[in-house]
Amino acid sequence: MGTLLLFPAAAFLCCALLVSGISYSEFVYPNFTASNLQFVENSGTFLSSRNGSFKAAIFNPRSNQINFYLCVIHVASNMIIWSANRDSPISNSGKMYLTQEGISIFDEKGNLKWSTPKISARVNAMMLNELGNLILLDRYNGSLWESFHQPTDTILMGQLFPVSGSLFSALSNSDLSVGDYNLTLTSSDVLLQWRGQTYWKLSMDQNAFVNSNYMAEYMAVNRTGLYLLGGNGTVVIIQVALPLSDFRVASLESSGHFTIKRFVAGKWVNDFTGPSDSCQIPLSCGRIGSCSDGSVSNTCSCPANFHSAFLNSTGCVPMDSTYSFYPACNSTDNTTDSNSSTLSYLKIGYGYNYFSNQFSGPVREGVNLTVCQNLCSGDCSCTGFLYEDSSGDCYWMRSYLGSLMSDTERWKDQSGYIKVLAGSSPAKPGGNNNDQSSSKFPLIVIVLLPSTAFVILIVFLGFLWWRMRGASCSEGSTKPDRYNNPPPSEELEDSLHIPGLPKRFGCKEMEAATDNFRTLIGSGGFGAVYKGTLPDNSVVAVKKITNLGVQGKREFCTEIAVIGNIHHVNLVKLRGFCAQGSLRLLVYEYMSHGSLDRVLFSNVGPVLEWQERFDIALGTARGLAYLHGGCQHKIIHCDIKPENILLHDNFQAKISDFGLSKLLNPEQSGLFTTMRGTRGYLAPEWLTNSAISEKTDVYSYGMVLLEIVSGRKNCLFRTHSHSLEGGDSSGTSLSSGSELLYFPLFALEMYEQGRYLELSDPRLESRVTAEEIEKLVRVALCCVHEEPSHRPSMATVVGMLEGGIPLAHPRIESLNFLRFYGRRFAEASTVAGQRNDEEYALLYAQANISLPTSLSGFR
Ligand SMILES: *[C@@H]1O[C@H](CO)[C@@H](O)[C@H](O)[C@H]1NC(C)=O
Ligand SMILES: *[C@@H]1O[C@H](CO)[C@@H](O)[C@H](O)[C@H]1NC(C)=O
Ligand SMILES: *[C@@H]1O[C@H](CO)[C@@H](O)[C@H](O)[C@H]1NC(C)=O
Ligand SMILES: *[C@@H]1O[C@H](CO)[C@@H](O)[C@H](O)[C@H]1NC(C)=O
Ligand SMILES: *[C@@H]1O[C@H](CO)[C@@H](O)[C@H](O)[C@H]1NC(C)=O
Ligand SMILES: *[C@@H]1O[C@H](CO)[C@@H](O)[C@H](O)[C@H]1NC(C)=O
Ligand SMILES: *[C@@H]1O[C@H](CO)[C@@H](O)[C@H](O)[C@H]1NC(C)=O
Ligand SMILES: *[C@@H]1O[C@H](CO)[C@@H](O)[C@H](O)[C@H]1NC(C)=O
Ligand SMILES: *[C@@H]1O[C@H](CO)[C@@H](O)[C@H](O)[C@H]1NC(C)=O
Ligand SMILES: *[C@@H]1O[C@H](CO)[C@@H](O)[C@H](O)[C@H]1NC(C)=O
Ligand SMILES: *[C@@H]1O[C@H](CO)[C@@H](O)[C@H](O)[C@H]1NC(C)=O
Repeated sequence: MGTLLLFPAAAFLCCALLVSGISYSEFVYPNFTASNLQFVENSGTFLSSRNGSFKAAIFNPRSNQINFYLCVIHVASNMIIWSANRDSPISNSGKMYLTQEGISIFDEKGNLKWSTPKISARVNAMMLNELGNLILLDRYNGSLWESFHQPTDTILMGQLFPVSGSLFSALSNSDLSVGDYNLTLTSSDVLLQWRGQTYWKLSMDQNAFVNSNYMAEYMAVNRTGLYLLGGNGTVVIIQVALPLSDFRVASLESSGHFTIKRFVAGKWVNDFTGPSDSCQIPLSCGRIGSCSDGSVSNTCSCPANFHSAFLNSTGCVPMDSTYSFYPACNSTDNTTDSNSSTLSYLKIGYGYNYFSNQFSGPVREGVNLTVCQNLCSGDCSCTGFLYEDSSGDCYWMRSYLGSLMSDTERWKDQSGYIKVLAGSSPAKPGGNNNDQSSSKFPLIVIVLLPSTAFVILIVFLGFLWWRMRGASCSEGSTKPDRYNNPPPSEELEDSLHIPGLPKRFGCKEMEAATDNFRTLIGSGGFGAVYKGTLPDNSVVAVKKITNLGVQGKREFCTEIAVIGNIHHVNLVKLRGFCAQGSLRLLVYEYMSHGSLDRVLFSNVGPVLEWQERFDIALGTARGLAYLHGGCQHKIIHCDIKPENILLHDNFQAKISDFGLSKLLNPEQSGLFTTMRGTRGYLAPEWLTNSAISEKTDVYSYGMVLLEIVSGRKNCLFRTHSHSLEGGDSSGTSLSSGSELLYFPLFALEMYEQGRYLELSDPRLESRVTAEEIEKLVRVALCCVHEEPSHRPSMATVVGMLEGGIPLAHPRIESLNFLRFYGRRFAEASTVAGQRNDEEYALLYAQANISLPTSLSGFR
């Protein structure tokens, strides 16, 4: 009986010792040594935090092998959160020494494998604190060195990860050596990189909220989320709000994903994964592997002219084995060593994209295929290129080749070419025999590394949920499925079950909320907007759609489902809708500061400061970039203007009315038959019957940017008593009297003369520098290039504003049309003779319409 009682008690005690770590101390002192053998019964553990949450050990993540590391381990999950000698493992008899000079790690032969950097004072103790930080202390308990300052691939709560700090992924969960991927914190963003090329940005992630353009100082995770902070922790620059948790970590996984997970009830729960599309990961399918369905699991295959060498392949090789990949040069060796007779390109066909394109922009825009190929041939760092037929954009694959992203719909006019050398490699066995049979294959390899299985499972479950909500996005301008839908027999009230629909409000309820549409707060192309208050006291803006084309309820709801599923900090959120009878209401979040035009052009109230203007410009660019490419579907706004840029607290810009142009446009055609958008912001292609693309929005954005700089409408009368009273501006393009100033032309002229300060809002006085104005004006002029393909993408605009992509120079030859517009304005204004915005809009349209389809005569 006694022994029976004693035995469980002893077992309990033993467990308690292991778990609570009473058997190890919180401190060790110099002349301490540890090896795995020495502490083998505790799996190498020699140090524990006070309450046992963390331990330090000479540990081997693989069970039966010889790679031992000095690690800090989260006890409950057995997760390695830090390792010292990740690139120089030791055997189980290798030793760690703690001396007064610091920590050093030797292999069994006594060779030094790793040590702490030289330390200024003598070490008095080593401790592991309750946050999981391994610290060397001096004799006053001051910190001499901390593992938190040398993070490997994981950040813990309480750890401040500084700007220009890096995390490096491990090769795998059991091999901790530095792998392929790299996380870097810049002063404005978190970047994931592969061999120096960016493949993900936190600010572009749909779960990240960008709050400010302040300079970031560090990143941290806490109980409520992930934060990029500046101003000594007082300013939140970017935040990712997450469920409340007492313990969470942020890690760069060996798969290349940046994840944030919390540990609850004995297991890890993933709260955040970036990129959410695994195909964005450079090596998702190995070299030149074609990756599709990245939000489920990676389905890998090889593109045309390539096949996978082995079933376990880490990529694809040319099908014709007389070709070999072009060896990328590096900066030290830029000789075009391969003679051009051996240089060749293998076409992989249409429907591909490359991970870096979104972040580095095209090498050249608006060129033909030959030019694009010659550019690539002329630089040894180019190892392949992608060419977009519609825009003539030429993108490079640089140095190391990664995986391709495949989507035959999305990138249907973009083709890829891989640079190869002919006859320079011996034929690989088996390479030639299966070319015809395998040309159709595609060898499907589901890449499910054990380390990523969990992440992918979570993503997969998320996807299922998302599919069930039916958030299937459709392409911006075409809607083939509309013809497959059953006819609108389901006009039957409320019998609609369109997945992904936002909250449906009762129309009576909305009448009450708006007090029978009492407070009009705006009106636009789609109808009037009223202020309302929901029963939960939240304030909303209710748009009563009047100008609806002939459209059934199903069509309406389908579009609403798409819009309702778009979430971005710079896009106004749709909270719900109501559709009863002929009444159509859209319920949006309410923006406290109204629209940009009121704040920008108004002479009452405080003037919009430069930093606020810049934040608005950047926020609008981010919102548009997201609409154009951040989510599955491409949405062209078609009506970017200050009235549609709303301002929230802290002058955070939010674009409104996106996705609505489709409601007005029942034609399936990609061409818009009726004129949309607002004159003055309309790109020339609206009038020349060219196709409308996302570059049409870029033009309108450029026009808005100029108005943000000047603080007034682009086409306005300039009278002597009005705006330019500063007296210093000479008014190059203008003479005297009351006349129309076409500001874009003025901006072009001032750009040519380098006189940027003349363009700024006089109300800002000297609170803005020429460099700051130059940045916005150059970006704006590039955006209004006449030729759509010469305009940068919105992602490139964001890069230029943030500083990650060099500022481009506008092309004068693509801006000469402004001179023509300007002249028409001058003429029109002398006829009109009185100030009336409506009339100018009309005149502007006339000026536009009488344009010759080609402006070549004016170039
Ligand atoms: C550690 O060992 C060295 C040399 O063996 C000795 O000089 C030193 O006093 C020792 N220090 C402590 C704290 O025991
Ligand atoms: C240990 O202490 C930390 C910090 O005080 C606390 O967050 C954690 O929950 C504690 N762990 C245990 C097992 O008590
Ligand atoms: C350093 O910390 C330890 C443990 O908390 C304490 O016992 C010791 O007195 C401290 N020493 C000094 C000099 O503060
Ligand atoms: C990791 O990021 C840093 C900072 O951007 C960069 O200097 C370094 O080259 C990157 N390392 C790798 C292996 O890409
Ligand atoms: C987490 O950090 C942010 C930014 O410093 C702060 O606003 C928030 O209150 C913190 N949350 C908790 C639970 O401490
Ligand atoms: C941040 O705080 C430190 C110490 O409190 C201070 O020296 C420093 O000037 C502060 N920096 C800023 C930008 O406020
Ligand atoms: C892949 O398979 C080949 C032969 O089938 C083998 O030689 C090679 O070691 C394998 N590679 C990996 C990484 O497993
Ligand atoms: C760069 O080129 C030199 C000379 O060809 C080569 O020795 C070196 O390994 C290359 N470095 C890298 C990182 O490829
Ligand atoms: C290689 O040389 C070409 C032509 O001289 C140059 O344009 C290119 O920038 C160089 N590339 C690298 C990686 O140095
Ligand atoms: C170019 O490559 C071909 C084929 O390998 C070879 O015969 C020829 O000598 C090379 N020319 C030069 C200038 O290296
Ligand atoms: C491509 O453009 C270049 C320069 O603009 C021109 O010389 C060349 O003839 C064009 N090639 C084709 C095939 O159109």
